Amino acid sequence: MKLKAVFLLFGLWLAQTVSAVNDGDTMKDVLGKYFTVGAAVNIDIVYGRSPEEARIVTDNFNSIVAENCMKGEVIHPEENTYFWDDADRTVKFAEDNGLEIIGHCLVWHSQPPEWMFTYENGDTVSRAVLIDRMYHHITNVVSRYKGKIKGWDVVNEAVNDDGTMRQSPYYKIIGPDYVRLAFEFAHEADPNAELYINDFSMASPGKRATICKIVRQLKADGCRIDGIGMQSHNGIDYPDLDEYEASIDSFAACGVKVMITELDMNMLPSPDDFSGADISQHFDYQDKLNPYKSGLDSKGRKLFEKRYLDFFGIYYRHRHQISRVTFWGVTDKGSWLNDFPVEGRTNYPLLFDRENKAKPVVEKIIKLFSE
Ligand code: G3I
Repeated sequence: MKLKAVFLLFGLWLAQTVSAVNDGDTMKDVLGKYFTVGAAVNIDIVYGRSPEEARIVTDNFNSIVAENCMKGEVIHPEENTYFWDDADRTVKFAEDNGLEIIGHCLVWHSQPPEWMFTYENGDTVSRAVLIDRMYHHITNVVSRYKGKIKGWDVVNEAVNDDGTMRQSPYYKIIGPDYVRLAFEFAHEADPNAELYINDFSMASPGKRATICKIVRQLKADGCRIDGIGMQSHNGIDYPDLDEYEASIDSFAACGVKVMITELDMNMLPSPDDFSGADISQHFDYQDKLNPYKSGLDSKGRKLFEKRYLDFFGIYYRHRHQISRVTFWGVTDKGSWLNDFPVEGRTNYPLLFDRENKAKPVVEKIIKLFSE
């Protein structure tokens, strides 16, 4: 009898530890009826160095995206050198586990290949040379995974929050049509791959208007564009939920899929002057900016749940416009938000905690979509 009880307790503990089991159904089973549910994976997961996180991925998600290993500076470190190992392994992890995989990202002002914009003597390259370099980068990366990657974030973070175009090296050297060229090159390399434009702070009305304008123009130019990615690096008091919902409607009205591509929830106080997810922002560590070193207090936990349920309420209402919801990471431990915009903090942005356990909100999200 005693032994039976021990087995029962062990079973309960195991179920709670490794997956968000709720009557056997996880997020991919229930939310997956409406859209794919994904997570950004790091290389520890795909190389088997983090088996518990890998298990969370395969139990709860049906889509992955490479958090870093397909970015320009990693995959294309020198003009004639590509580093494929980590990206190949990520694609294999998806194949082995029957997961859809999204490629991230082809053209981004941040983490580009270091050599991309200058000649060896340090001078800025000409427009023609940058177009040629961009062409080769996109063509080689996309064609390597032709038929394996479902869709690519082609252009990432091209627009400022106020709706002006970001003055990235691509914009400054090539001009605004770098966006169209990038989409054309990606389509040529894999005509069956879906192609997306992706950005943060997508609830901002200025950014929303410009993104819609870009998408409509791309369509008018005859380019393939399948979706708009709303990164959704959210916090407890941003974005405004009405504006966020308005963006989903506006993007859907452009005739493309709407995807929530990098969902998380920053639970820590923001330094003054901080906004958005522009990775170039850094602030000095201060203890008062790291208030929950040993766990969120009960007010924080309630806020976390409420905020996640608010967003998933929106995703439920818009479930016919949304084609994918992807979290930016798997567990709190591995989240980029422990080090951004202040290094070395303890953050709680994701649905699985530092012990690899599903947080209670997971069941509530599943319930919301089961009703
Ligand atoms: O690769 C080195 C590694 O060799 C070294 O040991 C380690 C020590 O610091 O640094 C490693 O590189 C870091 C990399 O993450 C992998 O951990 C980079 O310094 C760090 O800048 C990089 O940060 C990533 C960031 O993009 C910049 O590429 C984050 O993990 C990643 O979550 C974040 O993701 C972006 C999306 O791509 C676009 N949208 C915003 C989102 C959050 O910033």
